[in-house]
Amino acid sequence: MIKLTNIQKYYGSYHALRDVSCHIREGEFFSLLGPSGSGKTTLLRTIAGFEGIDSGDLMIGGQPMKGVPANKRPTNMVFQSYAIFPHMSVAQNVAYGLRAQRLSKAETASMVSEALAKVGLAGYGARAAHALSGGQRQRVALARALILKPKVLLLDEPMSALDRKLREEMQSELRHLQRNLGITFVLVTHDQEEALTMSDRVAVMFEGQIAQLDTPQALYKQPASKRVAEFFGAMNILRADIVDVKDGVATTRIEGLGTADLPMPRQADAGTAPPYCAGVRPELMTILDDGAQSYERETAATVTDVEYRGELTYYDVKFQGSDTPVVVSMRNTSNRTLKTVGQQVRIGWESASAVLLVDRS
Ligand SMILES: Nc1ncnc2c1ncn2[C@@H]1O[C@H](COP(=O)(O)OP(=O)(O)OP(=O)(O)O)[C@@H](O)[C@H]1O
Ligand SMILES: [Mg+2]
Repeated sequence: MIKLTNIQKYYGSYHALRDVSCHIREGEFFSLLGPSGSGKTTLLRTIAGFEGIDSGDLMIGGQPMKGVPANKRPTNMVFQSYAIFPHMSVAQNVAYGLRAQRLSKAETASMVSEALAKVGLAGYGARAAHALSGGQRQRVALARALILKPKVLLLDEPMSALDRKLREEMQSELRHLQRNLGITFVLVTHDQEEALTMSDRVAVMFEGQIAQLDTPQALYKQPASKRVAEFFGAMNILRADIVDVKDGVATTRIEGLGTADLPMPRQADAGTAPPYCAGVRPELMTILDDGAQSYERETAATVTDVEYRGELTYYDVKFQGSDTPVVVSMRNTSNRTLKTVGQQVRIGWESASAVLLVDRS
């Protein structure tokens, strides 16, 4: 649906988009995720046609977009600060999306009520926009963008102004809306959880570049770089030396854990860029009780800190021959006793718990 090829964009001397290439599929819920200033809004505005590009190609629906103004593109955008007009009614706000078209009153009214129904605001047309809750305003902004039946809806942090509970509600509503309408959504967010729960695929951006483009599961389980791994929750980072690579699998010597066969990082460009390190998520290691659990690998360690947090306990442990503290999280079950500082323990893990990462900061 949207094909970006080697997009470069400068603001004066500032390089805002650095060789961005990606392909957004039709009907996909696609997210652009990254920290503040990473270029998410810039990329979205480029797709929308509000920003020009310095080089590269942009195609939407098979058509080159060079020279095509925003209002002639099959896209519509919901802005970061979703400006709805407080002095207008809900219906007038939604109809604003139609202002460029010369439609009869009756046509406009029917399109407005159709759009309001889509976002769960049927019957709210006459209400003054200032008399709406934050979530309802957000829906008005959505209805205004949907009324032109765009093939692609571009959403720039549409939920950032909402409180947590409302945001979660809107997330699942938005997801349902996207499934029902079947149109392509491109969502900008800096909230990892939001991107993981809502999207079919996510492009992670740092400093104007796409660091990794993958499904939520792949991003969490097989991040390509240390930076992406750490962006998605806690990750223990250990030194790693590659001994041998065969068919995309690297025999890796991991600090404290010994040797394991790990897939090379997923993305080709990341894979060509050593140095590497190994990552293990805290929940993918287990402190073995003197029971019958059997793990592919067992490694001796010493407990150096214990943090009880109700549902979970976080242990800091050190493997023999390693100074790096490693966090292991354990679910607190009724028959599991807490370990104590200084205790010698065995850590159960599997090679599939570890991931080889490009260590490029
Ligand atoms: N019109 C502009 N002129 C100059 N620099 C700009 C302009 N717009 C954005 N920038 C710069 O480009 C970089 C990317 O900005 P952008 O708005 O795309 O970031 P973002 O990822 O959307 O961040 P946020 O999460 O804070 O919204 C920033 O460093 C920003 O200062
Ligand atoms: Mg932004």
